[in-house]
Amino acid sequence: MFLPSVAVLVTLAAQAPADSDGAALYQAWCSKCHGADGRGKAAATARLAVPPADLQECKASTAEPEARWIGIVTHGGAALGLSLDMPAFGEAGTPAQVRAVVRYARSLCGELGWPPGELNFPRPFLVEKAFPENEWVVTAAGRQQAVAYERRFGKRLQLEGEARTAFDSLDQPFDGVTASVKYNLWHSLERRALASLGLEVTPPLGRQDNWEIEPFLAFGAQPGRALFVQGEIVASWEETEGIAAFSYRLGVGREVGRVVPILEAGWTVPLGGERTLSLYPQMWVQLSRLGHVAASLGAELPAVGPEPRHPRLIGFVLWDYGDAGLLRGW
Ligand code: HEC
Repeated sequence: MFLPSVAVLVTLAAQAPADSDGAALYQAWCSKCHGADGRGKAAATARLAVPPADLQECKASTAEPEARWIGIVTHGGAALGLSLDMPAFGEAGTPAQVRAVVRYARSLCGELGWPPGELNFPRPFLVEKAFPENEWVVTAAGRQQAVAYERRFGKRLQLEGEARTAFDSLDQPFDGVTASVKYNLWHSLERRALASLGLEVTPPLGRQDNWEIEPFLAFGAQPGRALFVQGEIVASWEETEGIAAFSYRLGVGREVGRVVPILEAGWTVPLGGERTLSLYPQMWVQLSRLGHVAASLGAELPAVGPEPRHPRLIGFVLWDYGDAGLLRGW
């Protein structure tokens, strides 16, 4: 009687590794599907409809905050619109065990220098995000429309192309194109802040008469974990005038569940001419359960500057295609 129950206890203890031992928990819970090294090579016995994620891929793992992975592992893939094949471990393990196994899984990337997803703050209207993205964004601002494609290269670089149309009169609906490059100079998870340097180039196409080049510095920070602040300083250089203006942009937002109210202010100081100040109240909304599709609606309210000052509605829809396919994650 006594000996068999000791044997059972010993086996159970061997199957339930210590809380802090993320590596052992990973081998016990995750390796069957994600592979012993995280590469996503499932054991032949695991029959999965969807390929398990490659947890070693830095590009995918670093772009997401730790909290998201804790959510997936606690509640299972289906809770975030992913496959039922990704099981929930919230019942089997304690929150400390889940955190330990997630930290271990996230360490499988094994490379430093990737900006962490915690610093990927919601996209505002005006300020260029400092975080490099894989995104499609469709924007409507008054009678102007824009489509932007952003793509990450390596750890810190992002290239972007944008095309604009304007249907405010019958002639020349094609407004122009802009190409830009952005590089994350610095980021710190402990300080919850990052800064990036970039350059926007607009050639004389559509309604644009001459070349325009705009170097910028963008930053984001979430000092007290409640509010996040994003800002940008832009210099505008025009082919005929040289440096024509400086713009200062600042936005403050706060996450309230799936919505994020944001207020931005944009101040433009032309070297010749009147200064302008506009306010941009807006509401960012997470649309998909996974969070890779979002929309925002708000307005531009010119407060200071030459008359006439017309307010206009602004809205965008974005898809983070680096995160998941458009139809997954709902
Ligand atoms: C029964 C097989 C199975 C087990 C066991 C399993 N997973 Fe998964 N996991 C999957 C599948 C399949 C997916 C892909 C889901 C999808 O894309 O719809 C996935 C997806 C994920 C994702 C989402 C990645 C992303 O792209 O957002 C994370 C994170 C993850 N698993 C972590 C873990 C961890 C950590 C463990 C162990 C605690 C674990 N998984 C155990 C099958 C499994």
